[in-house]
Amino acid sequence: MSHDFTLPDEDATAALGAALGRALPARAADVAAHGLVLGLSGDLGAGKTALVRALLRALGIRGPVKSPTFALLEPYALSSLDFYHFDFYRFGSPAEFSSAGFRDLFAPGNVCAVEWPERAGDRLPAPDLVLTFRVMDAGRHVTAAARTERGAAWLQQAIAMMTSPSASMPPTPPAAA
Ligand SMILES: Nc1ncnc2c1ncn2[C@@H]1O[C@H](COP(=O)(O)OP(=O)(O)O)[C@@H](O)[C@H]1O
Ligand SMILES: [Mg+2]
Repeated sequence: MSHDFTLPDEDATAALGAALGRALPARAADVAAHGLVLGLSGDLGAGKTALVRALLRALGIRGPVKSPTFALLEPYALSSLDFYHFDFYRFGSPAEFSSAGFRDLFAPGNVCAVEWPERAGDRLPAPDLVLTFRVMDAGRHVTAAARTERGAAWLQQAIAMMTSPSASMPPTPPAAA
């Protein structure tokens, strides 16, 4: 299953990210049993980090959501799952994926969002859903391709969220300290 999105501006990218985030709680059983892997492909500046930031905001993450370009990994603890945001742009070879010990994080209970998945080659566990970004004259084009049934269910739920925003309310963010 695949779906094309035309994203005329930054807000449209954020709306897609937020829909994927709001669709995640309903996938909790899949995450608990198998984990879930999102691949994010596309040039520098295409909007991969912007999308993950909106996804995390929709799940109630309020602090900074930094690009993992230098750290390779930024972890986020959510109430029912752990979320790992990776960026493998700086990998010199796929072997770095294994030597960094990242394989163990692709596990039940964890959602992994991976920028530059191709730089980990076939060491990377197969993504459930891949978003491929293309920079257009104005805006972006994203093809979302589900590679597993779990990925298809997530994508379908996100599309439903976008067409019917009231289908499910986002989790209530914790009160500011
Ligand atoms: N649909 C869009 N149209 C135009 N600009 C966008 C769109 N989505 C995101 N952007 C902008 O493009 C840039 C994307 O940066 P970033 O998310 O860091 O890219 P990446 O992680 O892919 O390298 C940001 O400046 C963001 O505001
Ligand atoms: Mg990025």
